[in-house]
Amino acid sequence: MKRILSCMQPTNNLHLGNYLGALKNWVHLQDEPDVEECLYGVVDLHAITQPYDKDVLARSTREIAAAYIAGGIDPKRSAIFVQSAIPEHSQLMWLFATMTQMGKLERMTQFKDKAGKNSERAGLGLFSYPVLMAADILVYKATHVPVGDDQKQHLELAREIAGTFNARYGEGFFPLIEPVITGAATRVMSLKDGSQKMSKSAESDNSRINLTDDADVIVKKFRKAKTDSHPVPATLEEMEGRPEARNLLTIYASLADKDMQDVLNEFGGKQFSELKQGLADIAVARLAPITARMSRLLDDVAEIDRVLEQGNEKARVIAASVLAETKHLMGFWK
Ligand code: TYM
Repeated sequence: MKRILSCMQPTNNLHLGNYLGALKNWVHLQDEPDVEECLYGVVDLHAITQPYDKDVLARSTREIAAAYIAGGIDPKRSAIFVQSAIPEHSQLMWLFATMTQMGKLERMTQFKDKAGKNSERAGLGLFSYPVLMAADILVYKATHVPVGDDQKQHLELAREIAGTFNARYGEGFFPLIEPVITGAATRVMSLKDGSQKMSKSAESDNSRINLTDDADVIVKKFRKAKTDSHPVPATLEEMEGRPEARNLLTIYASLADKDMQDVLNEFGGKQFSELKQGLADIAVARLAPITARMSRLLDDVAEIDRVLEQGNEKARVIAASVLAETKHLMGFWK
């Protein structure tokens, strides 16, 4: 049986990339017959590895929880938890830090991107971010981790850490994590530049569709999206070398739950304005109910907190037992 775990950072609003690359798949996994448990975390300890506003951290944490529920995570079936409320994550991270080589962390592309040119001045938290991520997953002995394509390297490292632990302390103790990177849109790109990932931190808000954007804003952002001067490609070959066209078609395929070939048949040879109108229509139809539900949920903070307490409780029981077993295998006093 599979145990599913995945997480998002409470930094700014969730965007279409987070939804299509991750959340949408999380929702489907709840219904799979071979899934015994789903755990979805809000990773606030990860969010503070870069400059953040202490006055909005708690609010952002609740907003992400609300987005999970509004997007279709059912708190009765899945545990929605807050990372900082479960100290076992950080404790397991320390144990894993003793079996992780610095050279491997230096090769992490997200660290290089986030640290920028002056990596000497980057914080230890940012550097060790992937070790905490490995602990997030393995403290629940999760077997499958649904994420967007950008997390692949982190998951490979987590798998290696599990392998190192097992070889040193107990063969087969931690599962060798399987990344679940599925769907049409595993890597949604910026609406302004098809070579850049859609991200929460990009300066221009026009580069992304936020889950909280209203219909007018969504229409405007798609209208302004970068394209090229040819008609919409009609075949997979015609899409080559046209990253902005590929991105818009991919987003459409994912939102409409259609194969790329069907989308190419529908829009190939037409003007981009038609594709953009189609995109705006389907994005509004898909996102408006989520946005509305999210804002209703956020009116009742006590209810969100209740859901989180419940999720934390469920998560804590598993985490405490896995950490205790891990310490035992490593030879600790207790
Ligand atoms: P975060 O918060 O940056 O992103 C949350 C999820 O959204 C996916 N994603 C995307 N997918 C497609 N296209 C995009 N443009 C795009 N941008 C983001 C991410 O792949 C992710 O699945 N390190 C993680 C958080 C984390 C985690 C974990 C994930 C911490 N511990 C344990 C899984 C398991 C992160 O920064 O995600």
